[in-house]
Amino acid sequence: MEHFFDLYRQKTQLSKDLFERSKRVMPGGISHNVHYFPPYPFFIKGAKGSKIRDVDGNEYIDLWMGHYTHILGHHPEIIAKAIEKQSTEGFHWGIVFEKQVEWAELIQELIPCAEMVRFCCSGTEATMYAARLARGYTGKNIILKMAGGWHGASSDLSVGIKMPYEREESLGLFPELQRYTKAIPYNDIPGSLEAIHQNRKDLAGIILEPVIGEGGFVPAAMDYLKMLRSETEKCGALLIFDEVITGFRMSLGGAQERFGILPDLTTLGKIMGGGFPAGALAGKREILEATSPEKKGKKWEKILIGGGTFSSHPFTVAAGLAMLHHLKDYKEEVYPFLETKGEEVRKGLREVFDNEGANAIVTGIGSLFQIHFPFQKGVALNSPQSINQLSDTEKREVEFRIRMLTKGVHVMHGGGGLSIAHTDKDIETIIRAAREAAREMADG
Ligand SMILES: Cc1ncc(COP(=O)(O)O)c(C=O)c1O
Repeated sequence: MEHFFDLYRQKTQLSKDLFERSKRVMPGGISHNVHYFPPYPFFIKGAKGSKIRDVDGNEYIDLWMGHYTHILGHHPEIIAKAIEKQSTEGFHWGIVFEKQVEWAELIQELIPCAEMVRFCCSGTEATMYAARLARGYTGKNIILKMAGGWHGASSDLSVGIKMPYEREESLGLFPELQRYTKAIPYNDIPGSLEAIHQNRKDLAGIILEPVIGEGGFVPAAMDYLKMLRSETEKCGALLIFDEVITGFRMSLGGAQERFGILPDLTTLGKIMGGGFPAGALAGKREILEATSPEKKGKKWEKILIGGGTFSSHPFTVAAGLAMLHHLKDYKEEVYPFLETKGEEVRKGLREVFDNEGANAIVTGIGSLFQIHFPFQKGVALNSPQSINQLSDTEKREVEFRIRMLTKGVHVMHGGGGLSIAHTDKDIETIIRAAREAAREMADG
């Protein structure tokens, strides 16, 4: 048993007990696979600002921030107030209401491609609907996605997520899925062009995160995005940006605003719900209108998008409205702050690893960053493929994570997402912890 597990175990006895209890009722003790890590995850007790506290009383600087949701920090006052107010107005009606319209109007105003919006409860639903809408609207079948791209667990897009990116991800999916959902290499123009040309006749759409989470938050190269935009236009397919992470984070209008490329459809989630379950499909009016249940003429043809008992739940709408209004009102402060702090962290970490002689690469953009441990020096990491082939992801996911936790920093995939609640002192602590972890790892 490695030493870094020992210290973690000593500090997290109550979490260990809870995990044992948890495993008796939930497979693997969790309800989202990303919540598990060896030897066992710590259990959270409370959170405020940039800090979280576990059941054993340990405090951590959080970089996971509720799956990159809490851009204002944990438990911001404005969201708490909005929820308090909503709890006096009503919990759940299953009937349309005015705030829902206001929320959609705000998204329409902020996200460049969002001429219309459909709400759902999660990013997974949003991307599933995006794939269905692309097929329904174009009358074609094939969806190309990025090798390593994660769009939630919907069956339609559960192909090519893990290495070697060649097949469906799970038992229980239709074998035909591989004929209709295929992975292409992120940031690789010749490789992607070849796949697009092979599939162009039946190509319904291409979906990608413009800053890919599994790929170290490395942004798609501008030439790559331009190529995808022009090729999809040429073959009558839809370009879909999955902005579940990047929406309202890369800039107020997401990565599409920052990079100046307009997709046909966009999926949103996380930040837009202010910490409550949220998802949305947004895009061009003509495409979204194909999902309207209103009868048009004699023929009633529609693409079914929009189940969800809790879709645009009043609490989510109240929290989401408070969040988006705040981001809009304070955008001149929020985004430059996140940009500066993100750069500071990346620069500080690079210096630390250089000084320690550690073979580590820091990737990311804006408020997002990840640390990787390549097997060899001098490699370039610009895609999920390169990260998984050329760096030691096991070391990042287990040893580095546990070492950082024992120093009071909660990382995800070797890094995470900053919020406006992260202070200069937090950043110093993160960098100091990484330095100590690098030293310990070098000592073995
Ligand atoms: C890029 C991206 N798309 C979609 C999803 C799925 O969203 P949800 O977990 O809300 O279903 C995620 C979740 O992490 C994501 O990162």
